[in-house]
Amino acid sequence: MVPVRGIGIGLRMPLAAEMLEQLPSAVRWLEVHPENYVERGGRYPATLDACRRHWPVVTHGLTMGFGSTAPVTKTRMATLCAFLDQVEAPWHSDHLALAGAEGMFVHDLLPVPWNRESLGVATARVREMADALKRPILVENLTYYATFDDSDRSEIQFITDLLDRTGAGLLLDVNNVYVNARNHGFDAEEWISQVPAERVVQIHVAGHLVRPDGLRIDTHAEEICADVYQLLERALQRVGHAPVLLERDGNFSKLGPLMREVQELDELYRRVLGAR
Ligand SMILES: [Fe+2]
Repeated sequence: MVPVRGIGIGLRMPLAAEMLEQLPSAVRWLEVHPENYVERGGRYPATLDACRRHWPVVTHGLTMGFGSTAPVTKTRMATLCAFLDQVEAPWHSDHLALAGAEGMFVHDLLPVPWNRESLGVATARVREMADALKRPILVENLTYYATFDDSDRSEIQFITDLLDRTGAGLLLDVNNVYVNARNHGFDAEEWISQVPAERVVQIHVAGHLVRPDGLRIDTHAEEICADVYQLLERALQRVGHAPVLLERDGNFSKLGPLMREVQELDELYRRVLGAR
């Protein structure tokens, strides 16, 4: 299997035809959301098959957040596992979020308190997924717009505790760290300096929106800002060769502008890690 290294992008249907036509060499791998493909026929699986001939694929879930208490049925887990086998996913990631509880599922990625009780829930969910999916599990740090009074530790301590307990890896979202730091008033570089570097398997970067009142919203629909490039550089200096994904979920119609960002990321990646 081709190793997942360098810069990747999320596979998005409006761009897939251009991707397959141009086969841009700066894009070294693709990330897909299984929820878009599982038990679906037609254009989606056909496009994914075509892309897999050119790029290795990693998978990133949206609906099995590790903070959820809603059980995942054996059938649903087995179906996901079959999809991961089919695309030869080297690992599978999802968010440190509450995506469901008490029989309900939510499509927002809601934060959880960073306390002992949440740690128990997340530990059980990570272990369940690692057993069922038969590959390494990565936990992604979240963007959050509120925090809980009943947290008993910091976010980075909570994440470190979860990774220590479960052996999971970290999907470090640098833009999420930056957005949270600006919205909640902490130092993003300090946060990055506390990341257990040896556990980082993959990195996300994205653009975000700055509202007129100053609140930053994690839209994945803007260009990556200069501060996030700088924070990515700090992260790569600490972590080394973790593959970096450009997340873009809106404001695109053509591949060109996205490729300029991929090129910039590729240059940064080579500049920071090339000499190692
Ligand atoms: Fe992300």
